[in-house]
Amino acid sequence: MKTILIAGGTGLVGSHLCPFLRKQGYEVRLLSRHPDKVRDYSAYRWDVGTRQIDRAALEGVDAVINLAGAGIADRPWTSARKRELITSRVDATLLLRDALAELKVKPRRYIAASAIGYYGNRADEWVDEDSHRGTHGFLTELAVAWEAAAQQIEALGIATARLRIGIVLAREGGALKPLALPGLFGMAPWFGNGRQWYSWIHVTDLVRMIHYLLTRPTLTGPWNGVSPSPVRLKDFVKTIARTRRGLALGMPVPAWLLRLGMGEMADTVLYSTRVRPRRWLEETDFRWLFPELEGALEDLLRAPRKVPAGFGLLRRSE
Ligand SMILES: NC(=O)c1ccc[n+]([C@@H]2O[C@H](COP(=O)([O-])OP(=O)(O)OC[C@H]3O[C@@H](n4cnc5c(N)ncnc54)[C@H](OP(=O)(O)O)[C@@H]3O)[C@@H](O)[C@H]2O)c1
Repeated sequence: MKTILIAGGTGLVGSHLCPFLRKQGYEVRLLSRHPDKVRDYSAYRWDVGTRQIDRAALEGVDAVINLAGAGIADRPWTSARKRELITSRVDATLLLRDALAELKVKPRRYIAASAIGYYGNRADEWVDEDSHRGTHGFLTELAVAWEAAAQQIEALGIATARLRIGIVLAREGGALKPLALPGLFGMAPWFGNGRQWYSWIHVTDLVRMIHYLLTRPTLTGPWNGVSPSPVRLKDFVKTIARTRRGLALGMPVPAWLLRLGMGEMADTVLYSTRVRPRRWLEETDFRWLFPELEGALEDLLRAPRKVPAGFGLLRRSE
């Protein structure tokens, strides 16, 4: 049986990934700031601020998956919050690197979460894993620094894949929740001119991608964790409105108002990033269960509530 350590595994993605991997026969361990709150999985403590990590977490581990990071859109981007967004990703990765470096027998595999923020705001341009990084903006700086830290783990000789994750669609949280809420008078709001591209992925496909990478250590470098069909925000909201009968397309919230209210954090909803998962399409036989938005939303918004096996065993952290 293979043993997998998942850092930040108590969040949205981890809550789907942990039971999936367990079902595949893996022994799953979690690395958490609050191991005492984790149920049904062995959990080990780390604290990025004080650079503490329970070394026992890494003993005998075959692979490490790092999903840790403070929520990007959870709180206003004050300078203290920006620091937390950085340290919870970059310093956390470097703490792992230092602990891994000390191991006599190292895991063979490291899978790092990253984000499509790496590419920045690109209007209608298609970007893929070979495209250059964005040129400005906090989201880009964050992803670039995060990946550079992950490459330091690669430098230890551990086969590393960096998964540039798009907008994760899940029933119980993430981006879909605010977008699918019946807003004012049952209308779904949208932001800016609505022409910005949203590169999304169904959480089930993201979990399948992580498993695919886990089982194929020769697949290293950057991988776009998105579906093959990004959509413009306005079409995204229209599809939500269609899927959720009774919800109408509402009024746009103008970009200037969002900037006024959210400041730089408005980048999270106004950026246009049209991402193609080129490497998945050309270098693997991976097939999406939900390649089109319509099918993904049908599954998430209409189908009777399905609880992933084991979901609920972990508490949500934030
Ligand atoms: N969801 C998306 O749409 C999306 C899009 C692009 C990229 N990503 C990235 O993919 C990863 C997983 O996403 P997710 O949606 O599952 O994230 P999430 O629900 O926000 O959970 C991430 C986990 O990170 C840990 N964490 C939170 N704040 C932390 C801090 N200050 N220091 C250290 N650890 C902290 C928490 O685990 P503990 O409380 O157990 O420590 C939390 O459960 C994240 O790194 C995220 O940035 C997500």
